Amino acid sequence: METREQWRSRLGFILAASGSAVGLGNLWGFAYRASQGGGAAFLLLYILIVLVVCLPVLVAEMVLGRSTGTSALLAPIKAAGNKWAPLGWLFIIAPLGIGSYYAVLMGWTLDTFLHSLFLGLPANMSEAETFFGSISSGSSVLLGQIVSLLLTAVVVSAGIRGGIERLSRWGVPILFALLVILALWAATLTGTWEGYRTFLLKIDTSQFFNPSTIRNAFTQAFFSLSLGIGIMVTYSSYLDRRKQLPKEALSVASLDTSVGLLAGMVTFPIVMSFGLKDVISGSTVGTLFISLPTGLGTLGATGRVVAVLFFALAYIAAITSSISLLEVPVSSLMDKLGWSRSKAVFASTAFLFIIGIPSAMNLNILGKMDSVFGGVLLILGGFVLSIFLGWIVPRRFDDDLSGCESDKRVRRYLKFMLRWVSPPAIAFGLIVSVIDLFKSWSA
Ligand code: TRP
Repeated sequence: METREQWRSRLGFILAASGSAVGLGNLWGFAYRASQGGGAAFLLLYILIVLVVCLPVLVAEMVLGRSTGTSALLAPIKAAGNKWAPLGWLFIIAPLGIGSYYAVLMGWTLDTFLHSLFLGLPANMSEAETFFGSISSGSSVLLGQIVSLLLTAVVVSAGIRGGIERLSRWGVPILFALLVILALWAATLTGTWEGYRTFLLKIDTSQFFNPSTIRNAFTQAFFSLSLGIGIMVTYSSYLDRRKQLPKEALSVASLDTSVGLLAGMVTFPIVMSFGLKDVISGSTVGTLFISLPTGLGTLGATGRVVAVLFFALAYIAAITSSISLLEVPVSSLMDKLGWSRSKAVFASTAFLFIIGIPSAMNLNILGKMDSVFGGVLLILGGFVLSIFLGWIVPRRFDDDLSGCESDKRVRRYLKFMLRWVSPPAIAFGLIVSVIDLFKSWSA
């Protein structure tokens, strides 16, 4: 047997995992969920869920991957036998579902970037809407989707070290730096405080009990961390025994959450300064692509530079995420069927393209795909994972973590949370989310 590939360094793994986490979810998803009225309640719930509920699950996913050393499809079987095969299937279906529409969003991002760079920004709202209409329908959307899938495929076919790790190593630091610069710039706008206050700081305690706010917070936490569906299993299967997983998990979660916040500190001041509050509150999946270019359009050359930088960084963020989505089916095909990496990449990419066509053609379908695959299924996956490592194979959790000289108290704390806090909390989030989702569909 060939030996399994490994990350070159600890930092490489952290950057790749953070690269997967930091993506359009932090930029586009955060903007549209934070603007749906939850305000500070959404923000607090989201951060609380990340710290208390998701962190132990993140460590659990990493343990499952590293201790089995195999891909997401096979890891549950290797850990607990054939009965657990359906969990492996969930780990394949969800990334394929997300990957399919993620490529469409990437296409919009690329189009907006190119448009800002070469043609300039829309002069007013109606021009912006026309522009968004043109990038989100017809042949240009398919083109953007294909280009994005091909770029993703090129990186993944170059392998873990040569492709994924190499891209993440420069991509993640660059996008972080760009985002900090943009957030500092946004802090100088006239509507800055109004923007922070309206979307992030306004506290309305009744929102803590609003099912849509709860669903938004859970979805944002899981989606943004790439959690619950085998991404971290896959990435950690290329990891050696010495790394201290709790530390890695904390680094990934902190970086991801800061990027979400920073992104809000860029988008909301812009939205507020230019009186676009109503646009963003009537939030659909396209908001970011309409309101941001319109706001920036009123600023002349500076606005154009900011738009180019913002959409460039969004595209980098997106690609370091889409490679993780593709790596899940690719590594599973390689492990299960013994395929070569390039054959697995080709087959998976073609499949992603085909199942992404409905989302490319119809915004409504895209929104639905996002709430099912990028929402409810992740929360379900997180729930099953916490039961699996907390209750079904708890020894694996202890053994794996004790091998890497991590602090005993940290281990005990994580185990306790994984067994007693994550399952009921996630179950609650799941039930509220499913009900809220059906309600929103029938409304
Ligand atoms: N986390 C990424 C983002 O914020 C998207 C993503 C990549 C993802 N892989 C995932 C989401 C796996 C859920 C599960 O854009």
